[in-house]
Amino acid sequence: MRIVLGVGGGIAAYKVASLLRLFTEAGHDVTVVPTEASTRFVGVATWEALSGHPVTNSVFDDVDQVRHVRLGHEADLIVVAPATADLLARAASGQANDLLTNTLLMARGPVLFAPAMHTEMWQNAATRANVETLRSRGITVLEPASGRLTGSDSGPGRLPEPEAIFEAALALAAPASDYISPEPLAGLLSGKRVTISAGGTREPLDPVRFLGNRSSGKQGVALAAAARDAGAQVTLVAAHMEVPAPAGVEVVTVETALDLREAMLDAARASDVIVMAAAVADFRPAAVSDTKIKKRDDADDPVISLVRNPDILQELVQERAASNRPQLIAGFAAETGDEHGDVLAYARAKLERKGCDLLVVNQVGRDKVFGQDSNSVVILSAAGAGPESVSGSKDEVSAAVIHRIGSELGRVVPHI
Ligand code: CTP
Repeated sequence: MRIVLGVGGGIAAYKVASLLRLFTEAGHDVTVVPTEASTRFVGVATWEALSGHPVTNSVFDDVDQVRHVRLGHEADLIVVAPATADLLARAASGQANDLLTNTLLMARGPVLFAPAMHTEMWQNAATRANVETLRSRGITVLEPASGRLTGSDSGPGRLPEPEAIFEAALALAAPASDYISPEPLAGLLSGKRVTISAGGTREPLDPVRFLGNRSSGKQGVALAAAARDAGAQVTLVAAHMEVPAPAGVEVVTVETALDLREAMLDAARASDVIVMAAAVADFRPAAVSDTKIKKRDDADDPVISLVRNPDILQELVQERAASNRPQLIAGFAAETGDEHGDVLAYARAKLERKGCDLLVVNQVGRDKVFGQDSNSVVILSAAGAGPESVSGSKDEVSAAVIHRIGSELGRVVPHI
């Protein structure tokens, strides 16, 4: 893979030498593009020696080769570390005042920023807005790590460890075509019973109102169709969906998280594979009014109190353990990342907490995932193969998930 490694002007630039090593030792071809400021921390000679390529930060070197156009176009991945507040600002506002920012504007592949700066700079409203802008354009901005910073201060702002950046970058860059097996799905799950939950639960407040979520059910429906095409006998436990269920699958319709729980626990008893693709409300109103809640001038406006819904995925895992049933359980995770961790860090913790075998991780945001026809996910496995990045239509993502389930089923279900 061709990688452009942009280096920003921060003290953490020295750690990027280890990141570069990880990339080159894994066989990738890396061109380092340092900013002018960064060369005050680590010199061009270091990058040239470690990458084996000439290094410049000027758009006026090798003008005949239009380097900034070529670099951006040819890169399968651009990683910027450390991404300083200044670099994030320049990238967010589309400036093109050095080779790195020019290259970023020409990028065709995925871009990942690994920030490092003082906590105050990271938390400053200007930086927050720049990060938000970049993320809304599909650029991955990792959360910085927390800990000791350059001075006596400590807090969020440390460059994530080179291994963490390496892993996040590779997961991001792995093109879907590498991972979706060209083999047809047919026969992969023949004779298997697969139960998939889909859509979003609705928690009633009164006969006309509910608390809901934006899930359209498209991903769950696409998965059910892929499992069916793979020869499985499929049950779709459908909460509210905006799309019809596919033909050839059994549909159990549910409304609330508690309904969904009952239907899933019931179907799970006879299932080889369970996929929790539904968006389950974590909370429900503590009381449901039998009559429509009215506005009243002679009383205070109502306050809704909520109670916790059960974690269905976790219960399914516990049930499996209690009954010693050979079964593969996959969950979905909707993550945004925040100041305490990035998407992958949260997802890994969630995989462990929930105890399932696979976790399909979506990065959600205002314009991402919900209701859209395409998707970009990372498949994490508790004990099987490493993280796998898949992007494409929800059908392609589903095919990849079903392939992965097929290949891990033998490990979880020993008699296959
Ligand atoms: N899930 C579940 N029961 C719940 C909430 C979620 O079974 N009450 C399942 C979802 O179907 C999904 C997985 O758990 O497969 C992760 O859902 P997500 O909303 O990302 O995680 P939460 O457990 O709700 O964690 P948090 O909101 O803290 O991120």
